[in-house]
Amino acid sequence: MTLDSLFDASAESKKRKVDSIRIRRPDDWHVHLRDGAMLRAILPFTAAQFARGIIMPNLVPPVTTAAAAAAYRSRILAARPVGNDFEPLMTCYLTDTTSPDEIQKGHSEGVWVAAKYYPAGATTNAHHGVTSISRIRPVLERMERIGMPLLIHGEATDPAVDIFDREALFLEQTLLPLLRDHQELKAVVEHVTPQEAVDVVRAHGSRIAGTITPHHLVINRTSLFQGGLRPHLYCLPVAKREHHRLALRRAATSGDPCFFIGTDTAPHLSKAKEAACGCAGVFVGATALQTYAQVFDEEIALDRLEAFASLNGARFYGLPANTGTIELKRRAAAAPLAVRVDSDEVMVFRGGESMPWSLGEVRP
Ligand code: NCD
Ligand code: ZN
Repeated sequence: MTLDSLFDASAESKKRKVDSIRIRRPDDWHVHLRDGAMLRAILPFTAAQFARGIIMPNLVPPVTTAAAAAAYRSRILAARPVGNDFEPLMTCYLTDTTSPDEIQKGHSEGVWVAAKYYPAGATTNAHHGVTSISRIRPVLERMERIGMPLLIHGEATDPAVDIFDREALFLEQTLLPLLRDHQELKAVVEHVTPQEAVDVVRAHGSRIAGTITPHHLVINRTSLFQGGLRPHLYCLPVAKREHHRLALRRAATSGDPCFFIGTDTAPHLSKAKEAACGCAGVFVGATALQTYAQVFDEEIALDRLEAFASLNGARFYGLPANTGTIELKRRAAAAPLAVRVDSDEVMVFRGGESMPWSLGEVRP
């Protein structure tokens, strides 16, 4: 499938073409790397694009202890291609019974940098998530005290709520009260999709940030049904109306330090996606930077790509920016259609499509 119809290449951008740009090596502040054969198959794609990644903890079983996070980190390091220096930054999966002491222990030992709050049942492997924010109040107080960021999957979970309204409702019901009650807490609204979430992030200045995925910049909810049902474009939060997509493009390319990359690359086997009840998640790890570069080019904002890709996230997490660089080239290339995993495969977002931007030389 081609998504060309949704890219708004303006006449202006064509006038100001540059053939390549070189930026500091970017980081992916929201990535699902899975485990086992899947990890080994898909990690090379993320590791070719990004220097560091915030690793989501929604494994089965979830990563809830410092020991489990340290072991998972070792498996990721072992799965890196020879010579690759990708650095995984680990997170803790919060449950109703997470202890403040365990959170602090993992943080002070440098095992994890943040904790992920999934409202119970909100998304893939979120059934062990938090049933009510009041249950983790002591954990949030501790995180506030030690300066550990809370990463939020911000969707209301009441099945009666329209799926396209779940983020906006979460903001009202849960996020705004949480930010009021924890004035010092640093938090990331992950994979922002509606305009309302963009506005909330902006309104809270330096302690709140928002990650933006490549796919939410180029698809809207109509894309999910273009010519038929498109299971490989289904993720959570689900893509929204066109005006929300345009708001995301403005936010990402604004240069505003509170927005940065979080690809939410979330691979699933085709048999799990192309099913009567297909699961949520898009494998965007192989085509993320190509897509971001294309969007920034179309928005005549290539000069702001480095801030969004390589500087804003590091500053938010209190980490140094990477010293190496990567070149992005205006050179049409196609990513593979799919990646083999055992006897099945994972479909690549925009796989097989000729994309106008491709990755060039990396200088470590
Ligand atoms: C993610 C997954 O598959 O782990 N799925 C998704 O649609 N994004 C979970 C998540 O980040 O919501
Ligand atoms: Zn995710």
